[in-house]
Amino acid sequence: MKIAIIGAGNLGLAIAKGIINNKSAQALYITKRNINTLKELEGAKDVFLTSDNKEAIKNSDSIIFAVQPRHLEEVLNQCKEVITEGHTLISTVTGFSTGKIEKIVGEDRSIIRAMPNTAISINQSMTCICANQKGKERINLAFDIFNQLGHSIEIPEEQMQAATVICASGIAFWMRLIRATTQGAIELGFESKEALEMSVHTCLGAARLLISSHSHPEQEIDKVTTPGGCTIAGLNEMEHQGLSSSIIKGLITSYNKISQIAKN
Ligand SMILES: NC(=O)c1ccc[n+]([C@@H]2O[C@H](COP(=O)([O-])OP(=O)(O)OC[C@H]3O[C@@H](n4cnc5c(N)ncnc54)[C@H](OP(=O)(O)O)[C@@H]3O)[C@@H](O)[C@H]2O)c1
Repeated sequence: MKIAIIGAGNLGLAIAKGIINNKSAQALYITKRNINTLKELEGAKDVFLTSDNKEAIKNSDSIIFAVQPRHLEEVLNQCKEVITEGHTLISTVTGFSTGKIEKIVGEDRSIIRAMPNTAISINQSMTCICANQKGKERINLAFDIFNQLGHSIEIPEEQMQAATVICASGIAFWMRLIRATTQGAIELGFESKEALEMSVHTCLGAARLLISSHSHPEQEIDKVTTPGGCTIAGLNEMEHQGLSSSIIKGLITSYNKISQIAKN
């Protein structure tokens, strides 16, 4: 597979590093206007750095767009003459629908949207994927790319905004929960480095338990809550203080905000 990444900023660069580490592209073209900031990738095997988007597209079959939403229309208009039926277009751009992309490049083009998160830099992204009618035929190409960079699922396009909140903003929400448990551990007497280590690995273990056992969180909670014990006392106090409720309200507030931004 020959891949072009148009717009190697935070996300584009993270995707590029994942593809390079996994050796999953025959050739990888990486673009941005100022390629001086890509020095760390200079000399990498089969990797080509350029500020010429058209050149990158002409030499590739799968094109990943990772520019800011305000730049995508201009980039697509600039490149549409070299985008052919053979290309699979994969956009990571938030809030830019396949319909809007079709209006620029044509509805006969294969268009896929992917919403990864920043854990893509360590091959641990949760990526949600959707496609236009034509893109559905090639959706496996996107899975081939993003499954090597973590875990991915297909969802209806109408749910992409909600997925952005849960998975992309979700990284920030989980970081805050990890920080809170770290602060609690410090208050209970652990040094901050130790506290963070304990918190992070407990979080990782909890997630891995669910992935391996396919069980529900409540089943795992039942295993550690002795009747009358300390875990249920702590959990119930967290709920009295509104833990689940505040998280759900936070997610809905984020969703309302992203919907409002999309409307404007
Ligand atoms: N960061 C995330 O976690 C995340 C998660 C999911 C989705 N997204 C979406 O992914 C997109 C990229 O996000 P980001 O955080 O990576 O943004 P970013 O760091 O600003 O990266 C965008 C890059 O695009 C380049 N660029 C701008 N105009 C260009 C052009 N005409 N041709 C080629 N490259 C151009 C810029 O570099 P130059 O100025 O040098 O050209 C910049 O490095 C956004 O649409 C965002 O909504 C991000």
